Amino acid sequence: MTPEQQQQLVASAREVRANAYAPASKFLVGAALLTDDGRVFVGCNVENASYGLTICAERAAVCAAVAAGARRVVAVAVVTGLADPARPCGACRQVLSEFGPDMQVVLAGTGESELTTTLAKLLPDAFSFDALEP
Ligand code: THU
Repeated sequence: MTPEQQQQLVASAREVRANAYAPASKFLVGAALLTDDGRVFVGCNVENASYGLTICAERAAVCAAVAAGARRVVAVAVVTGLADPARPCGACRQVLSEFGPDMQVVLAGTGESELTTTLAKLLPDAFSFDALEP
C-alpha cells in the first residue's frame, strides 16, 4: 500500500464513520478495506435494540467487499472518535483474517497520528479453514 493509498483509506473510513448507527453506545466507527485489485469498500457499525445483534464497522465492510466479488483484502483502516486509536475487537480480527491474514492495519482517531500494524500481529496463530483439512 502506498502512502497515498493509506491516506485515501483513512479518509474513506473517516467519511463513512459519519453514517454509523450507534444509538446505544454513541461510539461511531468507520472502516475501509483495500482489496488486491485496488478497490475500496467501507462499513460502519450498526447497532440494534437487541444489543447482541450489533454489527461492527470492520465486519460490515467485509460483507460489502465480499458481496462485490472481492476475496482478498490487503489493508484495513479503522477510525473512531478516540484520541488514542481503538484496536479492532476479537471477532473482527477473526473475520478480517479470513480474507487477508497478512493485511496491513491502520488505526486512526481524532488526532493526526496513526497506528500502523498487521493483522498477523493482532491475531497471531489464527484459526482458519486450513485447520479443517483432514
Ligand atoms: N465496534 C466496532 O465497530 N468495531 C470494533 O472493532 C469494536 C467495536 C462497535 C460496536 C459497537 O457498536 C460499538 O463499537 C461499541 O462497542
